[in-house]
Amino acid sequence: MSSNQLDKKSQAWSALFSEPMSELVQRYTASVGFDQRLWQADIAGSLAHAEMLAAQGIIGADDHAAIQRGMAQIRAEIESGAFDWKLALEDVHLNIEARLTQLVGDAGKRLHTGRSRNDQVATDVRLWLRDEIDAIGVLLIELQRALVEVADKNAEVILPGFTHLQVAQPVSFGHHLLAYVEMFSRDAERLADARRRTNRLPLGSAALAGTSYPLDRERVARTLGMEGVCQNSLDAVSDRDFAIEFSAAASLAMVHVSRFSEELVLWMSQNFGFIDLADRFCTGSSIMPQKKNPDVPELARGKTGRVVGHLMGLLTLMKGQPLAYNKDNQEDKEPLFDTVDTLKDTLRIFCELVGGIVVKPEAMERAALRGYATATDLADYLVKKGLPFRDAHEAVAHAVKVAIQQGVDLADLPLATLQTFNPAIGEDVFAVLTLRGSLNARNVLGGTAPAQVRAQVARHRARLKP
Ligand code: ARG
Repeated sequence: MSSNQLDKKSQAWSALFSEPMSELVQRYTASVGFDQRLWQADIAGSLAHAEMLAAQGIIGADDHAAIQRGMAQIRAEIESGAFDWKLALEDVHLNIEARLTQLVGDAGKRLHTGRSRNDQVATDVRLWLRDEIDAIGVLLIELQRALVEVADKNAEVILPGFTHLQVAQPVSFGHHLLAYVEMFSRDAERLADARRRTNRLPLGSAALAGTSYPLDRERVARTLGMEGVCQNSLDAVSDRDFAIEFSAAASLAMVHVSRFSEELVLWMSQNFGFIDLADRFCTGSSIMPQKKNPDVPELARGKTGRVVGHLMGLLTLMKGQPLAYNKDNQEDKEPLFDTVDTLKDTLRIFCELVGGIVVKPEAMERAALRGYATATDLADYLVKKGLPFRDAHEAVAHAVKVAIQQGVDLADLPLATLQTFNPAIGEDVFAVLTLRGSLNARNVLGGTAPAQVRAQVARHRARLKP
């Protein structure tokens, strides 16, 4: 197609076409409105392709130089906002190619030798996503660092640990935060793994069957910093599993943010009163003057739905497609772009938000005292005195029942009363009935004892060192 023909695509694609596209169909089929953000990847891919074409003697050195010159100008035009994106040219690829031909003539028309938009777009999306994965990786590290710092400061702060949202056992607030560090570190691992499969080169697959030109695909892969080439042309132009895999990893990361958000919202509610969030992450109410709402975590929870929705969208997009490329695949971009934008913004905001958490240790401790959180410690105490665990469990259940009836904590029951549940109970029981005693006792690898929390903080710091 000549540049003239490209420009007049609204009239007809080629000599084969005898009627123009309606405005509506043009709008419906175009992707330039959203895929122009792939422009850097598109230019990088084209330059690597052109360099290889020249090295293989498929185009002349003069053509290669002209393509480089033209692309440099196009880059400048796009960066300055002067580039004239045309809907009639459908997508980012045709827009850039048409402008190149306008600028450098026949050399521009030679660029597409041995290439199709099918392998071109698959390459562009992979290059773009690879760089975005790297940016997200950096943000995940920053978020982990922020959490580790708050965890370190709160290693000794006692929070009621919940199961079934019922008070279960006391835990260190630092330990609780480090649970999220583990989640985010696995998210980073998953993304790094998905990156390996994303960073492979489709170019050279052409439309679907490969090409008759003597291309050096490995060379292009090296130029683009890719880890290898896709080994089957049909697969290379048609599958988007790398995008789906990324999207699944992104969904999990958002789910982790969402769980954390849910806790922040609960903790900030008056019924818990465990934390406060910095004002800059909250909003007020237009009617209730006393309100301060945790909007940011609520929105993060909400946006998780949207990212998970995109994953479903991409899976559904793929499921009915026969080999090889189908235009359906143009629909991969908006969900993928929105997933990246949403995840990046969310992580950026949370890096800041975490540092602004105001911890209220007295409220946390009071709540831990209310729920008989040291009952398991009393049972463990009896086991150490020789009782089988099941009998100890039963004895403590009776003790808790009496404490509830009297409206007091286990530690408030007099020794004589405690001894009615089991005569083995002695004065030393009060050391294990305290929250702090309970915490310190869980000094096992991965446990909540402050000593363990500190050891984990040190491990994370070493792992996350710049
Ligand atoms: N805009 C298209 C996409 O996003 C580019 C590839 C089009 N290829 C084609 N044969 N129509 O998938």
